[in-house]
Formats: sequence, C-alpha cells, structure tokens
Amino acid sequence: MTDINGKVALVTGASSGIGAATALALAEAGVKVGLAARRTDRLEELKADIAKKGGEALVIAMDVVDPASVEAGVKKLVDAYGAIDILFNNAGLMPLSDIDQLKTSEWLRMVDVNVKGLLNTTAAVLPQMIQQHSGHIFNTSSIAGRKVFKGLSVYCATKHAVTAFSDGLRMEIGEKHNIRVTCIQPGAVATELYEQITDAGYRQQMDDLAKQMTFLQGADIAGTILFAAQAPAHVNVAELFVLPVDQSW
Ligand SMILES: NC(=O)c1ccc[n+]([C@@H]2O[C@H](COP(=O)([O-])OP(=O)(O)OC[C@H]3O[C@@H](n4cnc5c(N)ncnc54)[C@H](OP(=O)(O)O)[C@@H]3O)[C@@H](O)[C@H]2O)c1
Repeated sequence: MTDINGKVALVTGASSGIGAATALALAEAGVKVGLAARRTDRLEELKADIAKKGGEALVIAMDVVDPASVEAGVKKLVDAYGAIDILFNNAGLMPLSDIDQLKTSEWLRMVDVNVKGLLNTTAAVLPQMIQQHSGHIFNTSSIAGRKVFKGLSVYCATKHAVTAFSDGLRMEIGEKHNIRVTCIQPGAVATELYEQITDAGYRQQMDDLAKQMTFLQGADIAGTILFAAQAPAHVNVAELFVLPVDQSW
C-alpha cells in the first residue's frame, strides 16, 4: 500500500461534483488538498467542511484555461506545502448538442477546458513531480473517451484526446520519472455537469435518464481514485472504467 497520509494533492474542478467529493475523500485520508476552481465561495465552503473533519486544504482561485492562473495556483500550493504528490485533472464541461446546431462557442469552450486546461495543469505540475522523482496524475476522461455517442461528438473528441494523452503521458513519464498516470473513465455520475446543457431536448433526455437509472455519486469515483492512489508504489492503475450497474450502453 502507498501511504497517502501527509501527501499533497491538487484537485481542479474542486468546487462541485466529482472534484469536490474526491477532495473531501483525499483530505479524510490525511492528504493536504489544493482546492482549485473559479467559484472560490464554493471552495471556501468545502475547505470549512474539510477543516471540521480535521483535514487541511488550501483554496486556489484557478481558471485552467489561463496558463498564468494555473502556474500561480501551482506555485501557491508548493509554497504552502512544499510538494505536489497527486494531481487530479478533473475540471471539465459537457454542453451536449447536435453538430448541425453549430453551437461553436460551446465546442470551443469544451476544447479549451477539457483539453487545453488539462494540458496547462499537467505542464505546470510536471516540473515539480520530475524534481521529486515521484507523483501520480489522474486525468478525467469518460466513457465518452472510449466510444462515441450522438449529441456528444465534440465532448467525445475532447475525452478521446484525454484518453490518448493519458496513455502517452504514462509511457513517457512512468519509468523515466517514477510518475504514475491513471485515466478515469466514468459513466453517468449525478453532478452539476448536466446543468450546462443549453439544448432543451438533450437536457430533458438527461433528466429522464436520471429517473430511469441509479447514477453514480461523486463519492463512488473518489473511492476508486483512493484505491489507485493507495496501490503499492510499483503498481500503476492505468485506467479506471467505472459505470452504474444499470448503465447498459
Ligand atoms: N458527471 C458525469 O456523468 C461525468 C461522466 C464522465 C466524466 N465526467 C467528467 O468529470 C469531470 C468533473 O465533472 P462533474 O461531473 O463533477 O461536473 P461539475 O459538477 O459540473 O464539475 C465541473 C467542475 O469543473 C470546474 N471548471 C469548469 N470550467 C473550469 C475552468 N475554466 N477552470 C477551472 N475549473 C473549471 C467547475 O468549477 P468552477 O465552475 O467553479 O470553475 C467544477 O468544479 C469533468 O471533466 C467531466 O467531463 C463526468
């Protein structure tokens, strides 16, 4: 087992959903957590929850799309705790729509946050992990990073990019720098992700789906992340494909 008590993590998208649940779970396991997102009021609430449970967290205002914001956030965490052992690249969005609706600003926003944002945080954290000769990077892909669904074409393209990048990253920095890379591919998780869908038909479809099946909770994904983070040091859980039992598609 890898003892993560006293380690330092950076969690992007920690203001809600999977990120918030994972930040809490890491803190409960004794990890000092950098809580990164744009909505710092939410992060302050989470920090207070963590403190109530005896954990330690640092609020970091970060827009993953802006490299300067990311670099400043990483510096703040390293200045406070002296290391970064775990990076959870989790920030993302999924405004579904059909391609012929040409919601191009939503397409580009997904590319910016889901792909470029993840590259920005990886680039900002890697020098620290390379210097430490240790670390664990978790990248959030999706079932949509394994196959394609109608209405999710651009989202699927961004998540396929995350899956591909994660595999290449693992090959390049695993043996050379002793850094583990885990690509997480969840199915349906009950979070605020669906609230950003501006297409009324797809929004209704997601609401109907939530009534028909039991979605995962953020805490379910957090549990799998802790499992991979706590695996023995020579074990790299390269992929975590986690679905609700009744998600047959
Ligand atoms: N829910 C699912 O069914 C599901 C399934 C597979 C994969 N995923 C993936 O899981 C990840 C987390 O999503 P979630 O379901 O937990 O949704 P969520 O509750 O909507 O959380 C998304 C998080 O991303 C952050 N974020 C968005 N844009 C950002 C930016 N520019 N800079 C920094 N942070 C930003 C948000 O924080 P701020 O708005 O405060 O910045 C928020 O904390 C995403 O990558 C998503 O694609 C979700």
